[in-house]
Amino acid sequence: MTTHGLDAQMKIYSNMLLGQGYDVPLSAEEWRDKARANLADGPWWYVEGSAGAEATMDENRQAFSRYKLCPRMLRNVADRDLRVTLFGKNYPMPFLLAPVGVQSIIHPDGERASARAAAKSGIGYVLSTVSSVPMEEIAAVMGDAPRWFQLYPGKDPEIVSSMVQRAETAGYGALVVTVDTTMLGWRMHDLKNAYLPFMLGEGIANFLTDGAFTSRLAASPAENQMAAIQEFLNVYVNPAFTWEDLENVRKQTKLPLLVKGITHPEDAKMALRMGADGLVVSNHGGRQVDGAIAALDALQKIREVVGPNVTVLMDSGIRTAADILKAKALGADAVLIGRPYVYALAAAGQEGVEQWLFHMMAELDLQMALAGYASIREVDSTAVTAYPLR
Ligand code: FNR
Repeated sequence: MTTHGLDAQMKIYSNMLLGQGYDVPLSAEEWRDKARANLADGPWWYVEGSAGAEATMDENRQAFSRYKLCPRMLRNVADRDLRVTLFGKNYPMPFLLAPVGVQSIIHPDGERASARAAAKSGIGYVLSTVSSVPMEEIAAVMGDAPRWFQLYPGKDPEIVSSMVQRAETAGYGALVVTVDTTMLGWRMHDLKNAYLPFMLGEGIANFLTDGAFTSRLAASPAENQMAAIQEFLNVYVNPAFTWEDLENVRKQTKLPLLVKGITHPEDAKMALRMGADGLVVSNHGGRQVDGAIAALDALQKIREVVGPNVTVLMDSGIRTAADILKAKALGADAVLIGRPYVYALAAAGQEGVEQWLFHMMAELDLQMALAGYASIREVDSTAVTAYPLR
């Protein structure tokens, strides 16, 4: 049974007795403003920017406003349960932290800070291929807490195999293969700033610690860092990657495999035919294809074609607890959240991510209860209605 909402309200309101307000950011916008103040233009726009005219990013948000919750009353919501089961394991919340690479440009502790914060509340954490800290070190700081590894299937099959094996050995519970980033999108802020963190050697820790990668180098990364960076840039993504190659990755691991970056129903079916266990409906937070369909709109069509039993997660545009409920109602088993926790990381490191999580869990608990649901599993399509805004 969860009591997050009441606990957080009482803790915060009790500041009144001390004659104080509460100066911790509450909304994603407040965290965002603090993050902006802490980051230089390069890192800030790397986080905040998206592809082209940024129409996809806008659309991701607009899609949520086209749906409204229809709260139900008097249904006894005193005992509440926000847990979800994914691939046979229980998670305390229907959201996980999305894979976000290169967190060293956001905070000196990088992924150590966000992973520790997630582990403290048992919230699932998805580590990026391009993390600034090697996957084994993140596993060590997380202990038994649930974690998944996100794979960019790069050009060298030996490096890909090696990373899959390392993730299994380090106790990552699922493999999330991102298929929407076979090249980087046209990100105009980053181009204007001439800012690509990998060029400075940020975000390549999993490669520098990989035997298959280092065996390709004439000199060790310590001896020739520029050559290592150049080799990373040559291999880390692969525009020639196909569904058949995905099937090969599938054969290399018994871990549950999710395909992230699906928005077309035919691709959803193809991913399942190639042996995927789950899907992440996502447009990468608008960072790849400008003018693409909102992830929330894609979610409904995909749920329709894959049926009720396939595990479907969704990300791109989630900012509030209401958004999580809407995504759940429109077919997601759980969601990933990206930028909001990164803002909190930029604002206040591990403590910031913990505070952001504390608020998100509280708001979700209250929102679910007040919408009339005692269990997140009961939230279905009858919880929302489409609202024609245009
Ligand atoms: C990302 N995302 C991402 N995805 C992935 O599969 N591997 C990665 O390394 C990264 N890196 C990354 C960096 C930054 C700065 C951002 C903002 C995003 C995409 C991420 O997992 C997720 O799909 C989006 O962030 C979801 O959209 P919102 O929640 O940011 O709107």
